[in-house]
Amino acid sequence: MALPPNFLDELRARTPLAPLIGRRVRLTRNGRQWKGCCPFHNEKTPSFYVYDDHYHCFGCGQHGDAIGFTMQTEGLQFREAIERLAGEAGLEVPRESPRQVAREARAKDIHEVLQAACEAMQRRLRGVEGRPALDYLRRRGLTDETIARFGLGWSGGGRGALASDLKPLGIEPRQLAEAGLTKPAEGREGAFNDFFYNRVMFPIRDRRGRIVSFGGRILGDGQPKYLNGPETDVFSKRRTLYGLDMAREAVFRGKARLIVAEGYMDVIALHQAGFEGAVAPLGTALTPEQMEEIWRVTPEPVLCLDGDAAGLRAAARASEMVLPLIGTERTLHFATLPLGQDPDDLIGKKGAAGFEAVLAGARPLSTALYDLMAEGRALGTPEGRAAFRNDLAAAAGRISDKSLAAEYRRALLDRFFESARPQRPARQPFTPGPRKNGAPFRPPTRLPPRAAPEAGHARMEQARCLLAITLAHPWLLDEVEEAFALLDLPHGNPAALQAGLLAWHAGRALTDVSEAEGASLDSADLVDHLNETGLEEARAWVMGATGLPREASPDAQPAEALDGWWHFFGFLRGEGALVEDLEAAGRDLVAANDAAAQARVIRLSQALSALRRGETGLEAGLESGVGSASP
Ligand code: UTP
Ligand code: MN
Repeated sequence: MALPPNFLDELRARTPLAPLIGRRVRLTRNGRQWKGCCPFHNEKTPSFYVYDDHYHCFGCGQHGDAIGFTMQTEGLQFREAIERLAGEAGLEVPRESPRQVAREARAKDIHEVLQAACEAMQRRLRGVEGRPALDYLRRRGLTDETIARFGLGWSGGGRGALASDLKPLGIEPRQLAEAGLTKPAEGREGAFNDFFYNRVMFPIRDRRGRIVSFGGRILGDGQPKYLNGPETDVFSKRRTLYGLDMAREAVFRGKARLIVAEGYMDVIALHQAGFEGAVAPLGTALTPEQMEEIWRVTPEPVLCLDGDAAGLRAAARASEMVLPLIGTERTLHFATLPLGQDPDDLIGKKGAAGFEAVLAGARPLSTALYDLMAEGRALGTPEGRAAFRNDLAAAAGRISDKSLAAEYRRALLDRFFESARPQRPARQPFTPGPRKNGAPFRPPTRLPPRAAPEAGHARMEQARCLLAITLAHPWLLDEVEEAFALLDLPHGNPAALQAGLLAWHAGRALTDVSEAEGASLDSADLVDHLNETGLEEARAWVMGATGLPREASPDAQPAEALDGWWHFFGFLRGEGALVEDLEAAGRDLVAANDAAAQARVIRLSQALSALRRGETGLEAGLESGVGSASP
């Protein structure tokens, strides 16, 4: 039956299953599927399920697609069923041309050649020459069962190893070349060289489980690390996803979410850890064709990317790419991995729970899109903000589904305005610190009522509050040092003091102070240190302010001081980074499950909601503050 495979795909795509089956079976919605009483056996309670592209009866085991259903219920032959469905879908059944017949036969050949090659390479992996490769895979934590399940093999050392393995099966050198296993030898007419040698081999399968090509990894270091087979009649890199055959089944059976990871080893490690819905593109950025394949399996896949700069770029590219394609029944979620780890590393270190936590932190496209677009923007000026706003609206405009585009536009802009909500004007005017000789007098800057957001000013004051708390309670640095070092404080006094405090704390870690005398010694020692390093004035700038928060008083309780510190930290850290901190803290909580991790999650989410409410953190402090210079 030589019909072009894409014709059948097209036919299936144009024949939604639920309406077709609904003509014969009363179907009711059941989540994303439909269910009803099975037409193939007698039953009173429904166990017949209809999914996007197939049906399955959990009572009698009957299953199939639109073509199978038509054949079974109408008693038609394959070709007849096709003609019937094509007629209804307004498609013409292509007539078989001799060329198509030949092409089909060749494709069948190629699959068989690839299958035979896979078996030969699996044998080589188990032989003497494959020992280092087998050890390598085991060292990377793969069980023998996993190695067998994925059909991993050893290429052999080249120079015709594969050709001699396959010759007894009647497979010709020409067929190996068509299958992408060899390539023409330069300068030697009619001769071929092995495409893969000295590599661990990963068979790549299509969604139906037929081998279409291979990837090969070098043992240890060396370039290129992975080699993927060339494009052939049966292999198109941009349409193929590694692991899709297995993921599809696991997702259909409700056993897994579909996860898009980056590489071969990620898919395999995820699988072994129980995440059977894992797939990966083949070394290139995710393509629209691959997204279509994924959406045939599930409406809400999770894209799982590195937490580093390259991962962010990949996420940004993916979100751009999917916008024109999304709809109410097809979208994408984004999960972010800890910095510098891929799923394989993470599972190695933290096990399945570690990855589960990453999945739990996955964000819907609408949220991730905003975060990605806000990344690295200067939003301190009207120009910068207007540009951002235009870009947000333009992104929503790229969604083809009009009502969805309108919803996105609203969600993105709502968040934009939320983040821009003008701060409530402070009741007490800001007064500059004591003047030094020669310094120009700065008149008190009064916030006009209904001020436009004066981000710079608020930030300066937030930094001052945070530093005041830190100066009054230097022991805090033992707990918050890492977070403190992350902050990007305004230039001038704040940044200088931050550096001074961190340097002092780093030096202190080396001197051993007994706990009893610790606190008071700390403060005195810190003041000395700041004076010696020319930060006297910066310190005065902080301590001389009016309206400092209560937590900046030396009498504040430690717990109070710590809360106050995190409060201001939240505002200074900024929304995007806070979201990431919160995700990381959530993962820590799952992994460690201790009180400190829990407290961190709570503090960060409080800070985030305050920030999202449009507060500046200065409201309370300026009203009831107890700065050292206040009466
Ligand atoms: P990575 O470099 O992230 O490798 O490439 P990895 O998956 O972590 O592999 P291990 O853990 O070192 O074995 C991710 C994917 O990019 C493609 C492969 O598909 C790989 O799985 N790639 C990478 C290539 O195609 N060629 C290369 O040279 C490297
Ligand atoms: Mn890896």
